[in-house]
Amino acid sequence: MLRYARRSSGLGIGEDFVAKYLVTGVAGFIGRSIAAALLARGETVRGVDNFITGKRANLVGLEAMEFIEGDLTDPAVCARACAGVEFVFHEAALASVPRSVADPVGTNLNCVTATLNVLVAAREAGVRRVVYAGSSSAYGDTPTLPKQEAMLPNPISPYAVAKLAGEHYMRCFTRVYGLETVVLRYFNVFGPYQDPTSHYSGVLAIFCRRMLAGEQATIFGDGEQSRDFTYIDNVVHANLLAAAAPADKVSGQMMNMATGSRITLNQTFRILCELTGYSGEPAYAPSRAGDIRDSLADIGLAGELLGYKPVVDFRTGLQRTVEWYRLGGEGIGSRA
Ligand code: UD1
Repeated sequence: MLRYARRSSGLGIGEDFVAKYLVTGVAGFIGRSIAAALLARGETVRGVDNFITGKRANLVGLEAMEFIEGDLTDPAVCARACAGVEFVFHEAALASVPRSVADPVGTNLNCVTATLNVLVAAREAGVRRVVYAGSSSAYGDTPTLPKQEAMLPNPISPYAVAKLAGEHYMRCFTRVYGLETVVLRYFNVFGPYQDPTSHYSGVLAIFCRRMLAGEQATIFGDGEQSRDFTYIDNVVHANLLAAAAPADKVSGQMMNMATGSRITLNQTFRILCELTGYSGEPAYAPSRAGDIRDSLADIGLAGELLGYKPVVDFRTGLQRTVEWYRLGGEGIGSRA
């Protein structure tokens, strides 16, 4: 497309560089993975991150991307980030239920205010489509499984409320301003580059790191809670489909992004024992506030609207993840 043909030669970023794709939260593991896939396809990419939870080390390998260090709570940063782009993958968030319980205002600022700023800037810049990282936490603790998009949301943590507010803003910007938006409601995404070092990290990242180091992992609750753990490649694949799908089919739509199967934490712990060689038992501690019991997605709508099918199953994904952490992980510093 002529509009994007002004990129300077080679991998250096010239003054006339115009990115076709913006990835927010690009130093986080999902944003990083989307950007890497786009670059591998030869696309022009801009990324933005404020490094609250993102890691500089995650940008290694993304040198062909234009990078803006900045905070999306600042409208000027959003305007700069959106200038000239056609598609936005909005992955930036403070992605943690317990973090939101400890700091609901911070979560609101970085999830809700930042999302609204991105939408305003996207609309002003003439962006065609924003693809938004929604969260399965929007469904809350309702017993009905699998979760279907038509179910009434029932967010029970500040994080879930904030991510759901973002979804509503997406649909609103489509209806009111005609900006194309697509919401992918992620279910417990895991894989290489996920930060295992914070107590707010996703459970599989924490377990891989600890068990590979021969340290005991802690299961909150009885371990019989279940999740539709989704390997990162499936999420990247879905995002690329969501950007490319015809607007009349997907714009203004929200759909689950998962695998359509679930596993308990106790079962997952056993598989990780096999994969990591850890031979101890887990510790058990009281359930976490704001936790939900079971989570399983119906992925029929994403199949219908995007032609989505999972490309990597849970066990294969977990194997790859364990191997990545075993090698030190490019994103976690130790042997980068
Ligand atoms: C929730 C959302 C998910 C979102 C994520 C962001 C649901 C179903 N999912 O995931 O969409 O992307 O927040 O953080 O609401 N656990 C342990 N030991 C640990 C850490 C966690 O037992 O060391 C347990 C938790 O108590 C929980 C499960 O593992 O029961 C999963 O926790 P976590 O990985 O933090 O994700 P969710 O809170 O399920």
